Amino acid sequence: MVVDAHKEWNEMDQKSKELEFARNSLMEELEAINNYQARISATQDAELKKLLIHNMDEEKEHVAMLVEWIRKNDQTQDKMFKEHD
Ligand SMILES: [Fe+2]
Repeated sequence: MVVDAHKEWNEMDQKSKELEFARNSLMEELEAINNYQARISATQDAELKKLLIHNMDEEKEHVAMLVEWIRKNDQTQDKMFKEHD
């Protein structure tokens, strides 16, 4: 079966689209953290290591901001944060 991604996207309500934007951004921020961590581990330049750590920490702030937004805009996700085992 071929999925018509454009049709699916056009039929999504705006709130669902906004949540998808936020989740995709969250994935990108987490991927950026992993990339920075790998480079921090690999670099032999102390000044560069310090700069990369600073940048990685900023990405962690972005993760926190996106998680907060998702929690505010997805009641089920927010509930899972409160009730998970
Ligand atoms: Fe970021």
